Amino acid sequence: MRILVTGGLGYIGSHVSVMLMEQDYQVVIVDNLENTSETVLEGMQQITGKTPVFEKMDLRVHGTHQALFKKYPDIAGVIHFAAHKAVGESIENPLKYYENNLHSLIYLLQQCVEKCIPFIFSSSATVYGEADKIPIAEDSPVKPPLSPYGNTKKIGEEIIRDICRTCSEFNAVLLRYFNPIGAHPSALIGELPLGIPQNLVPFLTQTVAGWRKILNVFGNDYDAPDGTCIRDYIHIMDLAAAHIRSLEFLIQEENQSNCEIFNIGTGNGNSVLEVIQTFEQVNEIPVPHQFAPRRSGDVMAMYADTSKAMHVLKWKAKYNLDTALESAWKWQSRIENQNA
Ligand code: NAD
Ligand code: WQD
Repeated sequence: MRILVTGGLGYIGSHVSVMLMEQDYQVVIVDNLENTSETVLEGMQQITGKTPVFEKMDLRVHGTHQALFKKYPDIAGVIHFAAHKAVGESIENPLKYYENNLHSLIYLLQQCVEKCIPFIFSSSATVYGEADKIPIAEDSPVKPPLSPYGNTKKIGEEIIRDICRTCSEFNAVLLRYFNPIGAHPSALIGELPLGIPQNLVPFLTQTVAGWRKILNVFGNDYDAPDGTCIRDYIHIMDLAAAHIRSLEFLIQEENQSNCEIFNIGTGNGNSVLEVIQTFEQVNEIPVPHQFAPRRSGDVMAMYADTSKAMHVLKWKAKYNLDTALESAWKWQSRIENQNA
């Protein structure tokens, strides 16, 4: 069965593509290499012994999508990762985000809706904003987004919901990821942030590696047990498995509604200090860190209510924070040796 993975050379897309190939799906990857490198293909080949089809293509360019689906008329499912994802950059350059994240989605949907191809959309727990109730369930209200990036996810969800309402043959799953971290256990693929990482774990591993001086812990005066923010950190391998399961769920027509939303998290919350301490314990290496002022736009705590994913999607996270942080360090150590 042939699956189209957009943004398939990126962080999440590469792990999902590897898992698909290991389960004998034929994978077509589309990526414009804006936030990744073609060398990711080598890691994927080493893990699977297989080469995915790779099409270098910019999905925000209108008119190219038809040719893609003509070239691969047997695409049985689409997993759409391609998007810009830096929250801070989206505040500085909103149009860049609206153009890429929405145009790419709309042009792709035009093909998928016409051909009734099952569609999986990368959404984000950011749509919940500062949730009224924690753990956060899927029926928790979607709040006004804190950034243009967050708004592209909210609008993306609305576009898909509107289509599903009018086209009953079109089926979609919207996955609201919490905080993906870690790397493939082989350390042959992982997260490759360009420039200074904005997210906690890549900044932490780069600090330990000596690429950054010190990790700033943004705020230790929150109304949380140790004063630092709480998040639901999910191992990238668990997140990848959730995509394969969502694909099967749609292909085997297990869905009750043609637009299903699932939280993809572990259901556990960990503070920034807990992440640092766990990293230090599992990898036996200190993390240079200091307290710094709160980062604007951060919410104090968020973690997933995973009941719906468990009972309806029949998926649950298997890995813990220790394993995820161990894999993150193994990956960082490997890129460091490569660069040495
Ligand atoms: P990533 O940047 O590593 O991967 C995205 C890939 O898409 C990159 O390889 C990039 O080159 C490609 N791309 C971007 N625009 C494109 C275009 N117009 N045409 C073709 N390719 C394009 O990001 P990621 O962390 O793997 O995230 C994947 C998806 O998951 C994104 O939609 C992101 O918004 C969403 N998401 C990510 C997180 C996270 O913390 N990483 C959390 C929630 C949601
Ligand atoms: C986690 C915690 C920071 C860096 C973001 C996006 C969200 C989603 C995932 C795409 C927070 C603290 C961080 C640092 C720190 N992405 N921190 N020092 O903000 O929960 O979510 O990524 O959809 O949309 O907003 O993740 O990793 O940036 O931060 O103390 O150098 O770590 O304050 O409490 P966040 P994060």
